[in-house]
Amino acid sequence: MTRHTVPVTRPAARRPPVDRDGSGWHLPVALVVLSLVPVVAGSLRLLELAGGPQLLPANPRIDASPAPVVVHVLTAALYAFLGAFQFSARLRRRHPGWHRRSGRILIAAGLIVAASGTWMTLFYPDAPGGDLLWGIRLLVGSAMAASIVLGFTAIRRRRIAAHRAWMIRAYALAVSAGTQALTQPIGETLFGTSDLSTALSVGSGWIINVAVAEWVIRRPAGLWARRRRAPATSVRPL
Ligand code: HEM
Repeated sequence: MTRHTVPVTRPAARRPPVDRDGSGWHLPVALVVLSLVPVVAGSLRLLELAGGPQLLPANPRIDASPAPVVVHVLTAALYAFLGAFQFSARLRRRHPGWHRRSGRILIAAGLIVAASGTWMTLFYPDAPGGDLLWGIRLLVGSAMAASIVLGFTAIRRRRIAAHRAWMIRAYALAVSAGTQALTQPIGETLFGTSDLSTALSVGSGWIINVAVAEWVIRRPAGLWARRRRAPATSVRPL
């Protein structure tokens, strides 16, 4: 007589919850790569302002008032690079204290990025992109700051899904600087360097990142982590 093997299935309730952000380093590394171009450009600008060689096209607004851009570039580099590692589920799980400590630093850095970007929008005269890009930048600066504040208040109330969503939105708005390093040259090559084409090509970088962020926030659980079932992340308020 043939012996039949009865498949043993674990009850769904006993399976550890799926980790929605994946657990490896791929995502943080990809996010760091995305921000490399604007961060390297910013570093060259800082070098130039410190008396080094001029390697970037002249920017009269920065020459006239360099302080805001120095603050902007330093905090943006910190926010982009350190922020990338907040999305590593493995790091959050194994070192929750690290996630909280760097989260506090990132809240301050992110608010300064948004404030300095808004400041330059308001007080740097005649930036390329005209009124349209001026308005988009004011909207983005305000939306980024609001997302950080909402992400912070959400975690204080232990609303983890809302915290995750708002922090993804804030980060996506910030690192659009990396997407714009692609969309701006493509847009200006195809449509010239009028204010309208600059505004649309820079603005499309923000639209792309917001669309990706909303997809990531809403995507079904486990899309990137079907094969890795990981224990639930323990999150304590900041
Ligand atoms: C991680 C995020 C960001 C990075 C890495 C970044 C990087 C930079 C860099 C390198 C510059 C100097 C450009 C130059 O040397 O000519 C700059 C300028 C500027 N950024 Fe950002 N930025 C970020 C986020 C933002 C955000 C969210 C806003 C929106 C308010 C913003 C608004 C501005 C403005 C208005 C300028 C001055 C543009 C000009 O007058 O030429 N930035 N940014």
